[in-house]
Amino acid sequence: MKFVALFALFAATACAAVSVKKSDYGKMPDGQAVTLFTVTNATGTEARIITYGGVLVSLKTPDRKGALGDVVLGHDSLADYMADGGTYFGALIGRYANRIGKAQFVLDGKTYKLPVNNGPNSLHGGNKGFDKRNWSGKEVPGGVELSLLSKDGDEGYPGNLKVVVTYTLTEDNRLRVHYTATTDKPTVVNMSNHSYWNLKGDGDGTSNILGQLLTINADKYSPVDAGLIPLGEPQPVAGTPFDFRKATTPGARINQANEQLKLGKGYDHNWVLNRTGTGLELAAKVEETTSGRILEVYTDQPAVQFYTGNFLDGSVKGKGGKPALQRSALCLETQHSPDSPNKPTYPSTVLRPGSTYDTTTEFRFSAK
Ligand code: GLA
Repeated sequence: MKFVALFALFAATACAAVSVKKSDYGKMPDGQAVTLFTVTNATGTEARIITYGGVLVSLKTPDRKGALGDVVLGHDSLADYMADGGTYFGALIGRYANRIGKAQFVLDGKTYKLPVNNGPNSLHGGNKGFDKRNWSGKEVPGGVELSLLSKDGDEGYPGNLKVVVTYTLTEDNRLRVHYTATTDKPTVVNMSNHSYWNLKGDGDGTSNILGQLLTINADKYSPVDAGLIPLGEPQPVAGTPFDFRKATTPGARINQANEQLKLGKGYDHNWVLNRTGTGLELAAKVEETTSGRILEVYTDQPAVQFYTGNFLDGSVKGKGGKPALQRSALCLETQHSPDSPNKPTYPSTVLRPGSTYDTTTEFRFSAK
């Protein structure tokens, strides 16, 4: 008992300086209220998260001089988030982040059909994925806990899925995203966060990321077909423009005459991470040398989708009403590989009753 009380005191003290404020963000056309949580630590790092889509709407982090800059793309209002045709700016993605081939999968001998919303495939959980749901939100020490119930048959997926995602900010500038889910029928789950990073602090989407230094901790990536479904087994990155084992800018090779880069309209591929254990390990690192900002992505997930904002063409307005331009940000979506439910040799994404889907990704910020 004493130990528990001491631990609680320690936990409360550790988070004491991280403040959480709640405010109204607007109302959906059906009257649902959307809440904004503003989470701030002593260095001034500030994360703003809304219940609609669990979107990280802004994240201000210090540069090497301590000046804060917003490092994520987004919109100015709830109406703009709701009208967005498909950027998934900052949102929580589920049930299945990325693509499922031919929009179907077989589980325990039964075929499940999903919404076809990306060529012949199903992308990011269907037409009304978790990014388009208004989550229940409550303050927790250091952050916000979001929860939702995805009902049996939601977007074609079996089982009532109870999902809880917690965003917490630490004093040492780590934004932690912790996902859990349980089900009452076998199903598949693969969640992610779809933030578009630009460490220069240009959350308004006006500068590009081609010159930022990127490292991806992976010896292998998954070549894809024209619909961006992996062809088969992951292949070595060695000798290809997909080798980011040493810090390299995306711009260095993005325009090379390479079949895979053409199919993706740039980088929009999945890297299978080099892993040694089961805990948080480095997936990727980005360094922006003018501001000095550094982002390190740590995860317990097996893969990461690296995407260079190829579909941003200026038609979607971002922050300040400015057009979000192609390559104005990069996404590092930690996850299981696309189409895993149809790829028996890939790590399984099946969740069964009695088990808990439990995964953590940390975005660690610093400056030098
Ligand atoms: C992911 C996908 C991309 C694209 C974006 C959203 O990164 O891999 O192909 O769908 O989401 O535009």
